[in-house]
Amino acid sequence: MAQRQPLIAGNWKLNGSRQSVVDLATAVSAGCGQLSCEVLVCPTSVHISDVLGVLGNTALHLGAQNCAEATSGAFTGEVSATMLAEYGCEYVILGHSERRAMYHESSDIVAAKCKAVQEAGLTPILCVGETLEEREAGQVESVIAEQLDAVLNGAGVQAFENMVVAYEPVWAIGTGKTASPEQAQDVHAMIRARIASHDNATAQALRILYGGSVKPDNAATLFSQVDIDGGLIGGAALDAESFLAICEAAG
Ligand code: PGA
Repeated sequence: MAQRQPLIAGNWKLNGSRQSVVDLATAVSAGCGQLSCEVLVCPTSVHISDVLGVLGNTALHLGAQNCAEATSGAFTGEVSATMLAEYGCEYVILGHSERRAMYHESSDIVAAKCKAVQEAGLTPILCVGETLEEREAGQVESVIAEQLDAVLNGAGVQAFENMVVAYEPVWAIGTGKTASPEQAQDVHAMIRARIASHDNATAQALRILYGGSVKPDNAATLFSQVDIDGGLIGGAALDAESFLAICEAAG
């Protein structure tokens, strides 16, 4: 069985000032050095260089929340993966439910962005997850299958060799309603099985994060599930103490 190093990723969303992101990154980097999990923060694009300035030789990793499909050209307002790579980013969150719902990103667009991120030498954090209506209609598996298959069908299972998947039930994001450890584990196992049906070794090595109202008091039971390899943390990532407590729960 592959050893998967847990990853805890902070998704800072549209928050912070130049000073507050420097303060937060400084506090997180000071506290994450002794942990065995990998710790990542994802500020807004405009704050990336400020956070890069405080990373130095610390164990903290840097990522972005989105990027363009294209590398360059007439795409007003976009930022490319190659530009993010130049600023020290190692990961890019893609297909977050807020981007899918509010910015109309289809699974095909998300798959094209995954390709661009990997071509730039970075690792996508591919977000998947169902809405409450979809869960109540018994569609969890088909919704997540569609989101994964857009990448599998376009780029093949080898795309998952340099990928992190984040399962984020839409109904749990920012709502304080966490999936139970069993509910999350069921979906994580289903995601791993779907990748394994293409290539078992890739599936066993794939890190699958849980996201959606992870807090210091529920993190340990979620992370103790066999197919949960860390978390994608929103609200609680904006407070260094809470975020570090979640990181500690992952080891
Ligand atoms: P939350 O957000 O932790 O605030 O629920 C998670 C996310 O959206 O990635």
